[in-house]
Amino acid sequence: MTIIPWRSFYTVAACLFHFQNLVLASNLRGRAEPSFTGGELDKGSLNGFWTYTEVVNACKLLAEKHPTLVEYGSIGNSVEGRPMPILTLTNKQSSAVPLDSRPALLLTSLSRGNEPLSLATLLNIVRHIVQNSNDVTVAQLLSSTKIVSIPMVNPDAWNAATTSQFHIKNMRDVCSKTPLSRGVDLTTNWGFHWDTYLPSSDLHKNEEKYEKECSEYYHGADPFSEPETAALKAVIETSVKPKSIIFFRQTDAATPSIIVPYTYHPSNSAIQTSRSLFRAEDVKVYESIITGMNASSEGLYTAGTTWDMSGQTISGSDLDWAFDQAGIFSVMVQVAASGDKSLQTAASKHLNATLALANLMSALPSKSAKPNKSPILKHIKKAVLNIPLILGAIAAFLLAVSFATARFLGYDKIWDRFVLGVQRLKRWKMYRNYTSLGASGKDDDEEDEDFGWALDEGIAEEGGFER
Ligand SMILES: *[C@@H]1O[C@H](CO)[C@@H](O)[C@H](O)[C@H]1NC(C)=O
Ligand SMILES: *[C@@H]1O[C@H](CO)[C@@H](O)[C@H](O)[C@H]1NC(C)=O
Repeated sequence: MTIIPWRSFYTVAACLFHFQNLVLASNLRGRAEPSFTGGELDKGSLNGFWTYTEVVNACKLLAEKHPTLVEYGSIGNSVEGRPMPILTLTNKQSSAVPLDSRPALLLTSLSRGNEPLSLATLLNIVRHIVQNSNDVTVAQLLSSTKIVSIPMVNPDAWNAATTSQFHIKNMRDVCSKTPLSRGVDLTTNWGFHWDTYLPSSDLHKNEEKYEKECSEYYHGADPFSEPETAALKAVIETSVKPKSIIFFRQTDAATPSIIVPYTYHPSNSAIQTSRSLFRAEDVKVYESIITGMNASSEGLYTAGTTWDMSGQTISGSDLDWAFDQAGIFSVMVQVAASGDKSLQTAASKHLNATLALANLMSALPSKSAKPNKSPILKHIKKAVLNIPLILGAIAAFLLAVSFATARFLGYDKIWDRFVLGVQRLKRWKMYRNYTSLGASGKDDDEEDEDFGWALDEGIAEEGGFER
C-alpha cells in the first residue's frame, strides 16, 4: 500500500487552508501569540489552525491565568522529544466532591497529524469551559468532574505541518522512501488485536496495511512501541484513570459520527452482541451514551462501528484497547469538515455532546465484561475444559477395541494372561536380583538369553496357562 498523505482524512477546506498557509506563513509568523480567552479559535498562525508552539503556550497561559481551574502538565515526550501537553479542568476550590473522587472525562486529538479539525474541536471545548466557568451548568460540572485534555497526541507531526505538508504518523525513523511516509501510526499501535487482521479474506491486503513500514497505517514493531502511545496508556491506566474517553478524529465523510467498539471486527454492534463479542449490558450503556450525545446536539450524529461507517476495520486501535483492556466506555468522535464555512463553526459543533457525556459519565456502570484475553488463550481454555471428555472417549474406545479383540481372538481368559504377565515380571525381577548378587562373569546378553529360557521352563513347570 503506498501512502498518499494528501488524500486520506483530508478535507478540501483543510487543503486550501494549507496551501494558502504555505504562501502566507512568513507574513503570519510575526503576529502576537493568540490566547484562549482572547481572540477566536481560528486565528492560529497555521492559517486558522494553531501551531504546536501556540498550543503549548496558550495552555500554559491558561493555567497561569486560572490557577484554581486549570492545571498544565506534560504526559511525556514524543519520538523527537517534544512534550505532549495535558490540561486538567476542574474547580479546585469547590469542596462539593473531593478532588480524588471526581470522575474524569479524557479528550484526545491529533493522533494522526493530518486531522487539524480534531485539534480545533478539542481546543474549542477547553476554551468554552474556561470562558463559561461561572455559567451554572458548567460550574456544576467543574465542581464534580474533571475534564482532561491531551490536545496533541502526535506533536512531532503537527510541528512538521508548520513548515511542510501534513505528516500523518509519528517521527519514528522507519521507511525512508519519502519524509512523509516515515513513522508509526499512533492509532494502530495499541495492544488489543494488534495483529488480528479481519476480515481474514483480506489477509494479504491487511498485512500490507499494518506491517509495511511505509503504509500510513503501519502499526509499529510491537504494541505500545511508541513513546506517544505508551505515555497515553500510562495516563489511562495509572494517573488519570478516566471514566470515559472521547478520541477526537477527523473524517472526510459528510456527517460527523460516534464510533463504538469494536473497530477490529467486520460487523455492526448488533452482530457483535449476538456473537458475544460485546455484552448486551455494554450495548445498553453505549446506547445511552449515543442517545445522550445525539440529543444534546440536535441529532447531529450517526453512530456505529467503523465497519458500519466505512466498511473498514482497524486492528490495534486506541478505542478497542480502551474499552476492552482498560474497561472504559470510550467513543471515537469523527469531526466532519464538509459544509462548514468556518473553522469555528465546525469545531464548536461537538461541544454539547462532550458536555452531555461529561454529565452522564458519573452514572455509567463499569464495563460488565472482564478484559478479553487473546482468542488463542480462549481456545486453550476451552480445550482444557474438554480434556476429561477427550480422555474419557479415548478410554472407552480402547476398552471397546480390547474387548472386541479379545472376543475375536478367543482370549476369554484375559485375566489369567494378565496374572501370568505380572508373575513373569516378578520372576524376571527376582532373576535379575539373583544374577547381580551372584557376581558371575556373564555379560548382559547371556543373562537375557538365560532369562528367556528359564521363564519358559517355569511356565511349563506350572502347566502353562492352565491352573
Ligand atoms: C447546545 O446546547 C444549547 C443549550 O444547552 C442549545 O441552545 C444549542 O442549540 C446546542 N447547540 C447545538 C449545536 O446543538
Ligand atoms: C440522532 O438524532 C437524529 C434526530 O433525532 C436521528 O435522526 C438520528 O438517527 C440519531 N442518531 C443516532 C445514532 O441515534
